[in-house]
Amino acid sequence: MRDTPRILVLYGSQKGQAQSIAEGIADEAEEKGLIAEICCVSEGDKFNLEKERAPVVIVVSTTGDGDPPDNALKFVKRIKKKTLSSDHYAHLCYALLALGDTNYANFCNCGKTIDGRLQELGAKHFYATGYADDGVGLELVLDPWLEGLWEAIRRALSKMSAPHTVPDLRPVSSVLGTPSGVPAAVAEASLTLSFPPLSESALNVPNLPPPYLDVVLQEATTREEVGCVAVIQASTGVPVMKEGFQEVPVSRSAKLTSDDSVKTALLVELDISAHPMDYQPGDSLDVLCPNRVSEVGELLLRLGLMDRKSHCIQLSLQKDTKKKAAQIPSYIPENSTLQYLLTWCLEIRSVLKKAFIRSLVECTEESGEKRRLQELCSKQGSADYNLYVRDPRLGILDLLRAFPSCQPPLSLLIEHLPKLQPRPYSAASSRMRHPGQLHFVFNIIEFPACIERPGGRRGLCTGWLSDLVDPILVPKVHVSLRQNCSFRLPSDLSKPLIMIGPGTGVAPFIGFLQQREKEREDNPEVVFGETWLFFGCRHRDRDFLFREELQGFVGNGTLTHLKVCFSRDPPEGTETRTGPRYVQHDLLLHAKDITNLLLRENGYLYVCGDAKNMAKDVNDALMEMIAAELQLDKLEAMKALARLREEKRYLQDIWN
Ligand code: 2AM
Repeated sequence: MRDTPRILVLYGSQKGQAQSIAEGIADEAEEKGLIAEICCVSEGDKFNLEKERAPVVIVVSTTGDGDPPDNALKFVKRIKKKTLSSDHYAHLCYALLALGDTNYANFCNCGKTIDGRLQELGAKHFYATGYADDGVGLELVLDPWLEGLWEAIRRALSKMSAPHTVPDLRPVSSVLGTPSGVPAAVAEASLTLSFPPLSESALNVPNLPPPYLDVVLQEATTREEVGCVAVIQASTGVPVMKEGFQEVPVSRSAKLTSDDSVKTALLVELDISAHPMDYQPGDSLDVLCPNRVSEVGELLLRLGLMDRKSHCIQLSLQKDTKKKAAQIPSYIPENSTLQYLLTWCLEIRSVLKKAFIRSLVECTEESGEKRRLQELCSKQGSADYNLYVRDPRLGILDLLRAFPSCQPPLSLLIEHLPKLQPRPYSAASSRMRHPGQLHFVFNIIEFPACIERPGGRRGLCTGWLSDLVDPILVPKVHVSLRQNCSFRLPSDLSKPLIMIGPGTGVAPFIGFLQQREKEREDNPEVVFGETWLFFGCRHRDRDFLFREELQGFVGNGTLTHLKVCFSRDPPEGTETRTGPRYVQHDLLLHAKDITNLLLRENGYLYVCGDAKNMAKDVNDALMEMIAAELQLDKLEAMKALARLREEKRYLQDIWN
């Protein structure tokens, strides 16, 4: 008898994206008649890569400052061992998909590290490495990479020694049937979302993964009967205590911007005296926030489950599930109520993935709507998907509003909606200055109106926090400390500090300066290094965050140079704008001092704030300054900056 050909799929994933892609590959492999084993790269006991003869597909993301995801750390450490010989993986034949985000430094670094090291150890590619960029949309690289993967696997399998029967792995064409035949104009009229019709040729809709979860809703007649925290907690609206989270009271909140500022920044002060949190300036805080009551209610109504919102959910895997990596989501506590699930466990606003839309086709009655959904998840519909789903950040509720005949079962939502993630905020205080307190600051995010959401909407967590900080109540928030050991003040107090943080990016520097202020008081004999802060906002009198506090630091010598630029004010005493507009323009004005502090006095440079534009522009300005001041060409200047990064003297805490 001939063996069924086999592949091994490995993933390293921080937020689940790489894992879900890997699962998709394993599922598709099974549908194509292969045996697919899947596991996390670090679960070394489950596979033996040195002896592996099957093609191996590796999907890994990158996190933080180019770091491996937590569950890939062990693997990276293992393959980096110096004792491994150059033919350690001589038998290994693999394909690697690296996920990253070009808004951050060290794009796809973990994938590159693994790839480089496997090559050094003698492993061979059977397919070119893919680098998918979340900054512009993973699918731009992901879709074609996945499309080519099967042919590459087929070739790899046929080269391998085992006498396999190699199945035909060509992409499956339309599995959801041909177009419905409903004239486009009729279909359009019934929808509130208007998608331009695609050609009537058969849509190339990728294969539909089978559902894998069984969900039973069981009435809980008494709390005791169910005997579960989730049920009890659901009625009080408090989440079951997640590991590492503490419920902490808000002691004060303050608006830091004026009423006529376009953005509203709020400062929230937490009383952590009863919850000792060993935080340092530079660390951040994860805040757990619930989905909005109104959205949960609407979703329950739309699913026809409003009358069962207090029922307990029992989840089990379908007996005949073909999904290789199927498992019950670990973040849903046993016996949660339905309302609890939708409030605290699932990211109900998450942008609909194509795979989710694909499964919704099956649950949609009306043929015009069905056809539209097919278009959106088809290969030809990628541009439409980006325009109508990805860019306006369409979630399940938006889709259900626009597609009235779509009636998905609850199990589908549980399978496709990701875990509700806590939101991180940088600490904006120092315990040295404010014992028992932790402060953080944020802009209330406002999403503009679009067809699906005419009134616009606020960001989930910032909207919730801003409603919560009601002066009459003493609200509590669930928070967990997230240490950021790479974004810390140097222990040597004589080192110069250059801090660049426009907008709410100033937050960690308030903590740094509070700490420095206290250290200066406590160590009058020490000669401290210079401290520079480059801050930027739109208007001097509207959004100059922490103005008094910063001026106080200047007044008492904690901050030796405060450089503030106003992007939308004319410079003082003039009607026209000629002065520095952004922090990087101010940096360039002080190029000589800054390069001197950095390169000759071994200073530390910190950048915090927007990753997409600011951090990139600041990086360019630094390169320009270094090149000009040291008379270097661009490449040499880049190398000088890279060295600073390696020495951990150019540090970033940036976000999108
Ligand atoms: P703007 O909103 O007027 O464009 C805090 O958000 C400050 O950062 C604002 O003054 C904002 O200016 C400014 N900003 C916007 N884009 C920037 C960039 N690419 N580099 C530096 N600062 C920027």
